Order: sequence, then C-alpha cells, then structure tokens
Amino acid sequence: MAINLGEPSYDDAEFEAIRQVFASNWVAGQGPTSRRFEESFAQFCGANGSIALNNCTAGLHLALLALGIGEGDEVIVADYTYPATGHSVLYAGAKPIFCDVRPDTWTIDVSVAEGLITPRTRAIIAVDVAGQPADYEELHALVEGRDLALIQDAACSSGATYGGRRTGSPWFADVSLFSFHGRKGITCGEGGAATARDPEVLAQMRKLSCFGVESALARQGSTSLPIPVFDDLGYNYKLSDIACAIMEAQLAKIDALLAHRRHIAARYEELFSTCDLVRTPRVGPNREHAYQTYTLTLDHSVNRDEVAMQLRARGIGCNIGTFASHVQPIYGKTQSCPVSADQWTRHLAIPMHANLTDADAQEVARNVIELVTTTRK
Ligand SMILES: Cc1ncc(COP(=O)(O)O)c(C=O)c1O
Repeated sequence: MAINLGEPSYDDAEFEAIRQVFASNWVAGQGPTSRRFEESFAQFCGANGSIALNNCTAGLHLALLALGIGEGDEVIVADYTYPATGHSVLYAGAKPIFCDVRPDTWTIDVSVAEGLITPRTRAIIAVDVAGQPADYEELHALVEGRDLALIQDAACSSGATYGGRRTGSPWFADVSLFSFHGRKGITCGEGGAATARDPEVLAQMRKLSCFGVESALARQGSTSLPIPVFDDLGYNYKLSDIACAIMEAQLAKIDALLAHRRHIAARYEELFSTCDLVRTPRVGPNREHAYQTYTLTLDHSVNRDEVAMQLRARGIGCNIGTFASHVQPIYGKTQSCPVSADQWTRHLAIPMHANLTDADAQEVARNVIELVTTTRK
C-alpha cells in the first residue's frame, strides 16, 4: 500500500457543501458562499476581513499592487520558498532581493535582512516555511520606524500560531496570504485567501481581484442599473463559490486536522530520535507549527536524491523540502544565500497529512532510517 506524501481529508461534509452550492445556482466567485467563507476565515484568523482568491500567488501579487509597490522598488524575499514568492515581485514590476534563512527553522534570517535594506526597499516578504511562522517579533522591530511594509507568505501556515495568535491576524503583517492548494492543510484543490491590517488595502485587493470593479454581489443591492466603470487594471483572481463551499467544510474541521498532523509530527520526532543521520524540524519559541510539510534534514554524507528515488520505488511519497530561490535562472543568479542553498540539497519531505496512521509513520521511519544508513555519497 502506497503512503502518499500529501492527501486531502474529505468526507460527506464537502460533498454536501458542493450539493448546496449547486442548488443555490451561484457557482461563480464572490457570491454568497464566498462571502460566508470570507467571514468565517477572517474570524478564524482573528482578522477584520478576508478575501477568497484563486491562489496564494495571486494574493501576493495583489498585496504588492495594493501597497503601491512596482517599477524601481526592491522587495526583500525570504530565499527558501516556492518560487511563487519571488515571481509575485516580478509580476508587480519590482526587484526581489533574496535573503538567506536561519539554519534551524529555515525562516528569514532577520539579521541578514537588515543588511539588505537600501533606499529602494519597500517591503519584506517573510515566509512561514513548511507551516512554521517566521520571527515576527524581530521583523516588527526591523520595520519599525522605517517606511517598509511587511508581508506574510502564510501559504503553508493556516492555523499555525505565534504567541497564541493565529497566522493572518493583524498582529503579524500588513498583509497575509494563504494557499488552499491540494497539498495544504485545508484545501479546495487550488485556492487562496488574504487578510490585511488596513481595511482599505484589503478593499483595494478585492477590487483588483475582480477586474478592478465591484463584485456582482456587491452591485446587486443597487437601486439603478449598476453598470461597472473600469478605472483600474484589475485581474480575475476570484475563487469560485464551489471552491469556497469546500473551504467552508474544510475550515469547520481544521482544528482536528491540525491536531492529527501534530500527533504524527510527534510520532516522527520519537521514531527518528535514534538516527544520527536525520534531524527532525526545530520549532521556534512561542509558536505552534502547522506541519503542512514534514521535512527532515539529512546528514551531508547521505545521498538525498538516491534516498528519495528508493523511497518512491517502495511506494513512500517524498520530495525535496522547497526551493533555494536565488539559484533559479529566472532571477538572474546574482546573489548568495548559503544556508538556503545547503538546505535545498539536504532536505527530504516525507508523508504528512491528516489521514496517516501511527503504523504509516512507523513504516515511513523504518524505510527512511534503513535507506539513509545504506545510501551514502
Ligand atoms: C511558501 C509558498 N508561497 C506561495 C505558494 C503559492 O501558492 P499557490 O499555489 O496557492 O499560488 C506556495 C505553494 O506551494 C508556497 O509554498
């Protein structure tokens, strides 16, 4: 039996939610179901509002636009991330400046970020790598008194906490962006959401997500014929009401899904404690990890790629952790981020989802330990 790297957790609740949204006839985006989901998601995060979007990358793009960032601006981006983060800066016409990450939690190294600030720097994008919040207290101290926006790439960290606050609360950043892609803790296949500290920034993002005009639902209350006027170059970044119905069902069970992931993480921690060639993830102080991905750091002597191929051959899903952005040709390869570059070659993501059993975790650990011990460089 294969043990998958990631799996969604769906049951009758999602099917019932889809049935209801079909019956309502509003299946496109920014309708009544979207509105309800946006309210629930904002409440979950402790935010003053949220927008449902077609993915997190679109949200990052809109955040930069709504904050007025574009041509001639620099944005400091945590290097160890899916390149969606860096791409969004290019979409906005600005320049990503990649910042190295911490060797223990793999989140942005705030002391390195300070040295990258120039008169052109307009924002910092911190990434909650694999579902762990970055060092927001240090980031707040860094941006304070400087004209710098802070953006939280919370693609992987729905339901993670820092100081008891859930990601996406206004405490974290000017704007927070989430992903509901199929491998995330809660998912509708492809999807995303945004929260923002300033309601005007969120309103501008909403407008830009709907071609630059008010949504059809907002126009419905008008007493005259509401003909929209296109005065802004908006995009079509809406999430369908079908997807939002699935997300409502997912959000209703997020606490149980997270608890199960944390349970599996604790099992892995125990199971790998006997193997010196493997380091399990470190969690920074004052925070709760969402474990969107469970990433092992393999010893330098282990052939990570060969271990991964052999695990897959045995039916155990695995992958690299995530990417070192600065080495990707699209960004010009002009920077050095040695910690991120090292992790990129040594990290191994192993199965993590809410359908795993203790026996699965044991089987994964047994195979990984056997392979890292025998598959050396
Ligand atoms: C850190 C990070 N940011 C952004 C994204 C992009 O998310 P989406 O696929 O929803 O656009 C991902 C996707 O995996 C991610 O891991």
